[in-house]
Amino acid sequence: MSMQSLYTVPAEIAANALVNNEQYQKMYQESVSNPEGFWAEQAKRIDWIRPFTEVKDTSYNDQNLYIKWFADGTLNASANCLDRHLATKGDTVAIIWEGDDAAEQRTITYRELHADVCRFANALKAQGVKKGDVVTIYMPMVPEAAVAMLACARIGAIHSVVFGGFSPDSIASRVIDGKSKLLITADEGLRGGRKIPLKANIDEALSRPDVTTVETVLVLKRTGGKVSWTEGRDLWWDDVVAAADANCPAEEMGAEDPLFLLYTSGSTGNPKGVLHTTGGYMVYASMTHEYVFDYKPGEVYWCTADVGWITGHSYMVYGPLANGATVLIHEGIPNFPSPARMGEIIDRHQVNILYTAPTLIRALMAEGKQHFDGFDGKSLRIMGSVGEPINPEAWRWYHEVIGHEHCPIVDTWWQTETGGILITPLPGATDTKPGSATRPFFGVQPALVDNEGNILEGATEGNLVLLDSWPGQMRTVYGDHERFVLTYFKTFRGMYFTGDGARRDEDGYYWITGRVDDVINVSGHRLGTAEVESALVAHDLVAEAAVVGYPHDIKGQGIYAYVTLTKGTEPTEELRQELRQWVRKEIGALATPDLIQWASGLPKTRSGKIMRRFLRKIAANEITNLGDSSTLADPSVIDTLIESRLNRA
Ligand code: WT7
Repeated sequence: MSMQSLYTVPAEIAANALVNNEQYQKMYQESVSNPEGFWAEQAKRIDWIRPFTEVKDTSYNDQNLYIKWFADGTLNASANCLDRHLATKGDTVAIIWEGDDAAEQRTITYRELHADVCRFANALKAQGVKKGDVVTIYMPMVPEAAVAMLACARIGAIHSVVFGGFSPDSIASRVIDGKSKLLITADEGLRGGRKIPLKANIDEALSRPDVTTVETVLVLKRTGGKVSWTEGRDLWWDDVVAAADANCPAEEMGAEDPLFLLYTSGSTGNPKGVLHTTGGYMVYASMTHEYVFDYKPGEVYWCTADVGWITGHSYMVYGPLANGATVLIHEGIPNFPSPARMGEIIDRHQVNILYTAPTLIRALMAEGKQHFDGFDGKSLRIMGSVGEPINPEAWRWYHEVIGHEHCPIVDTWWQTETGGILITPLPGATDTKPGSATRPFFGVQPALVDNEGNILEGATEGNLVLLDSWPGQMRTVYGDHERFVLTYFKTFRGMYFTGDGARRDEDGYYWITGRVDDVINVSGHRLGTAEVESALVAHDLVAEAAVVGYPHDIKGQGIYAYVTLTKGTEPTEELRQELRQWVRKEIGALATPDLIQWASGLPKTRSGKIMRRFLRKIAANEITNLGDSSTLADPSVIDTLIESRLNRA
């Protein structure tokens, strides 16, 4: 494979793209020198019920922090995704759905989707759901997941989608935090040929004595598998919909009214309820979807993310549907039943734009390119990557094997908190370098700072911050504004701290180097090391645990746990497996530790603080240059840990 390091914009793409490089420069300048004017203009892409007169009203001052965009305008997100397309695109396909088993196929037009959403919205109302209520959604990857979200948006309820891979405990803590009265789920999900017991997980979550708010559970019949039933609480989706009227006017919402909550992990404590509001989020999600993917009417767009993550919210539902796009939703995983599946789906549905994750690319790469021998791929035009830094080797493989060397790759950096893409190439404007997310999107002002918060200039490396607000930014941590301010605005005052480190090269391109806090990124899924540690110490035989990430060929980062057992406990292989299963059950499969090292002691300072720097290096098998250990209470623990390290690859 060639080791080319700069890939220029293909001439044909540049000529037809929404934005070329000259336009990017001009628009970017305007967006940061005159944000009010720029965003007032861009916000016209959304249908407002009452037009806004205020544009940007934001302050990053940690003593008085607020973020408001288009605050006096009103709109409805579901009407923007559905109603406004009916006159011209009623018969256009909104959703192409392919089941886990490719024999199952569905297409849903905008008119049909609108009708489904209206009916389900009326069903929610009939169950007593009101504007401002939090509705928890725990669904498989079926069109009804989008229907449920849009129905909430239609009546002003706040949805809180919980990823279908999370455990009953994780569901419970989110339901409790959101004080949800109504839950939407399915009997079972299907993924890679396996059944996921969604309803059973809900039953278990709701059986916990501290979950007291839920009155109703709506259950979609997906597989027809056997489920247990609580009379008076559980209702079938089909039954409530059959009784519902098809006409449901969209609720007029303030631009700053909440649209959804989505929980994400941080370096401390429980996952945070990231709150996104309506106006700014819709402007930003739809605009980034159109520009970053250079979306043209009629194109088929496929995002492989699960609806349980922010990518599924912004780039499978709200952004593309606001743009009247045709969205492909695949129920399963793109490498099942074989690694050829991804190419088959692209060819079968003539996908023009593909948005996926490095971990999947690496998994396909490991299987070998022979699986793409029968892949045509001529429909593909643009390809995206998201979730973690993409290693140049995977980037080139993606470019060559999937993109046949002519599809620009947009490596999009963003976060649950940012609502939409912040640093990314634009297909017609930005020459790309494998591994670099390149340049800021319009209105985004990244900077690199040292640990004291001094802004660094030129080609350098540092902590990645954002100097000013953009419309898609989260507004608060649900129910805990203090935590919002503390987490994002106190580390470096007057700036939003991303938690990521980055390098900027001589061309001003950004290269994200990964998290600089105690958050790890496993297969593009974000996890707090503290969450895994508290799951481990909840086990009777665990006295202490410290968890770090380590480089993993497919997952990006794997989970490495150092565990100290209670006195007298035998460290057996059975116990190791039991602890892995334990964490899996406590949090979900994605949190299962890859490696558990028994540790008789952990490297601590005299004041008892664990020095993770050593643990990270030992887990990464980087033992030659460990650095100064003289501040440790007992430096000899390091040697013991090195001797019994597990990752000697
Ligand atoms: C963290 C955010 C954004 C949707 C999916 C993940 C990492 C994300 C990239 C990228 C390098 C990336 C960062 C970020 N990340 N995209 N293109 N290049 N790193 O959302 O779960 O909120 O995680 O994912 O570390 O902070 P998330």
